[in-house]
Amino acid sequence: MNDQEKINAALKAVSFVTGGQIVGLGTGSTAYFAICEIGKMVREGLQIQAIPTSEATRQLAIEWQIPLADINTVQQIDITIDGADEFTRDLQLIKGGGGALLREKIVASITTTQIIIADGSKEVEQLGAFKVPIEVIPFAVNAVTKRLHLLKGNATLRHKNGNAFQTDQGNFILDVDFGLINAPAALAKELDHITGIVEHGLFIDLAAMVICGKGDALEIYEAAKK
Ligand code: A5P
Repeated sequence: MNDQEKINAALKAVSFVTGGQIVGLGTGSTAYFAICEIGKMVREGLQIQAIPTSEATRQLAIEWQIPLADINTVQQIDITIDGADEFTRDLQLIKGGGGALLREKIVASITTTQIIIADGSKEVEQLGAFKVPIEVIPFAVNAVTKRLHLLKGNATLRHKNGNAFQTDQGNFILDVDFGLINAPAALAKELDHITGIVEHGLFIDLAAMVICGKGDALEIYEAAKK
């Protein structure tokens, strides 16, 4: 992990934010730098409305006096800047290390330009060294764990301070080891159909761009235009 690489990626990403936009604000230590920078831009007169992807990010946005919009009042989000736990060069992601994957995916799903920012440690040839975070309703933990076993997924209930970690929605997170994932899109489809899973951290075809800090340089990977 490298803070300067995160900062460099964040600074590049915020250069795509322009006045009048609805801006999705990601969650995590990389998105943090982008949010602070957007806060400075707002202080200098940039007019945007922001939609946070977690309660932690909402608090940070409030501290920076970034105007917030209610997601249920907007038709779409113009641009979202968020982090990732792993990404491949074809822009598939694992997210949810911070537990905010559900709101992050909802925001990404209505975002026109989803920009992922990362330090160089997040780039992988194949997803799966990072366990896939899966948000489940507490009632379904055992049922979902068994179903995941059938997919060769080894699930561990996430804990924090001795208790099961609770998401902003009051759900639990299973961190699931599938080994290296050969077909992320196919796995994502399987997970979509398991009763009790609220959402999973495989983000397939949602990112328009990944900006990755590498030393003093940046690598930018863009999705093929649809
Ligand atoms: C939050 O739930 C995650 O999806 C984050 O976006 C991801 O974990 C990246 O976080 P860092 O930027 O802190 O590594």
